[in-house]
Amino acid sequence: MRSKIAIYPGSFDPPTYGHMNIVERGLGIFQKIIIAVARNTSKKSLFTPEERVELLRKLFKGRRDVEVDYFEGLLVGYALKKKSNVILRGLRTVADYEYELQMSFANKNLSPNIETIFMMTESRYSHISSTIIKEIAFFGGSVKNMVHPLVEKTIKAKLKERAK
Ligand code: PNS
Repeated sequence: MRSKIAIYPGSFDPPTYGHMNIVERGLGIFQKIIIAVARNTSKKSLFTPEERVELLRKLFKGRRDVEVDYFEGLLVGYALKKKSNVILRGLRTVADYEYELQMSFANKNLSPNIETIFMMTESRYSHISSTIIKEIAFFGGSVKNMVHPLVEKTIKAKLKERAK
């Protein structure tokens, strides 16, 4: 099966310019990208999966080649359900490599027909991570250069609500 659809999975808590860049560049290769928001059980999240889906849908509003969805359970099961055999992941620095390699091995073991394709993050985005964004925002710093203005606004609102 040759896939024209790639699944781009992640926590997206929150979505960053780095994520958006991978989607844009991925569309140069694939006809359609499904951004698949997962609940990452090992990470403490700021936004609920529903809120992340809503944010991403707003960011890619009007794009017929981008779908935003939410999944639970195994990623390979979700990919099969969506009739895709490609998992797209962004790689920033060498620090990402081990984690990504482990995940791709696990996915390959579970479903040998599904390929993980890595795309190197553009260097201007290599320092951006959702975790760092949350930390900076929590301490009142600006995340303007790392996220879309809508995401920045939503983070601020969320932190304000949490501080109540
Ligand atoms: O943005 P993240 O947190 O690095 O994304 C990690 C994610 C969601 C892609 C990964 O945790 C995942 O695929 N979760 C679904 C469960 C699964 O399939 N696990 C087996 C492969 S490790």
